[in-house]
Amino acid sequence: MINDYEFFKREVYNITQIDLNYYKEKQMKRRIDSLILRHHLDGYESFLRLLKNDDDILEEFVNYLTINVSEFYRNPDQWRILDDEVIPSLMDRFENIKIWSAACSTGDEPYTIAMVFAKHMSKSKFSIYATDLDKQVLKEAALGEYTEKSLAGLPKEYFKEYFTLNKDSNYSVDASLKKVIKFERHNLLKDPFPKNLSLIVCRNVLIYFTEEAKDMIFQQFYDSLAPGGILFLGATEQMMNYKQLGFIRKASFFFEKPL
Ligand SMILES: C[S@@+](CC[C@H](N)C(=O)[O-])C[C@H]1O[C@@H](n2cnc3c(N)ncnc32)[C@H](O)[C@@H]1O
Repeated sequence: MINDYEFFKREVYNITQIDLNYYKEKQMKRRIDSLILRHHLDGYESFLRLLKNDDDILEEFVNYLTINVSEFYRNPDQWRILDDEVIPSLMDRFENIKIWSAACSTGDEPYTIAMVFAKHMSKSKFSIYATDLDKQVLKEAALGEYTEKSLAGLPKEYFKEYFTLNKDSNYSVDASLKKVIKFERHNLLKDPFPKNLSLIVCRNVLIYFTEEAKDMIFQQFYDSLAPGGILFLGATEQMMNYKQLGFIRKASFFFEKPL
């Protein structure tokens, strides 16, 4: 039993409610093995003992598993499509726009969404529910302090309007953007999905999941959207069976639930 990955997965689920069965196995095992080595342990069993007895290590483990890389305005072409085409069509359809940024990491994505929407409408007309599995990144997102590097791709006009240099030589995001975003923990593989949404943004996370998990999530995204709502995926994500699910492809990475 000692080095049995099946046993490890079951125990990790009991401790964290994270189901590693839905994550691509090769990639996950590689990450877990390197963490075990980093702690100078001899296998899954001793690592589990450590996880059960040390909350800091447990937090480090979840943080390490959940690859949190993010940046503002990631893949600019897609944000331009949102800006020029998708937002105007959502405005025709919805009086109040409900947005979900699923797997939002450190907040770069939901703050980008807020800036782009605020170009088109008053901030009282839209709201963003931003979620992630990892509590640590949600803390950072709510704090809203960023390095110059993570902001490098953000168009100048947004940077000037919404960021100020703080005493730690980082940049603080404007309070007016924080007000439109609610950050909360949510596990895409386990928790119920919000309903009646106008836009779901889910980027650069499904790539870590098995096909079975992705299918399950795409179906739930469809059910979560109001008719006329849009799903915005990342450049790494593909939804082969979008037609079967009932989606219409509007542009690369944008899929509509028909009216
Ligand atoms: C690479 S980041 C993507 C961040 C952002 N969406 C972007 O594209 O810049 C992936 C995020 O997915 C989160 N994640 C991993 N598994 C998850 C799950 N089961 N439910 C919710 N979030 C998850 C991770 O914690 C991480 O913050």
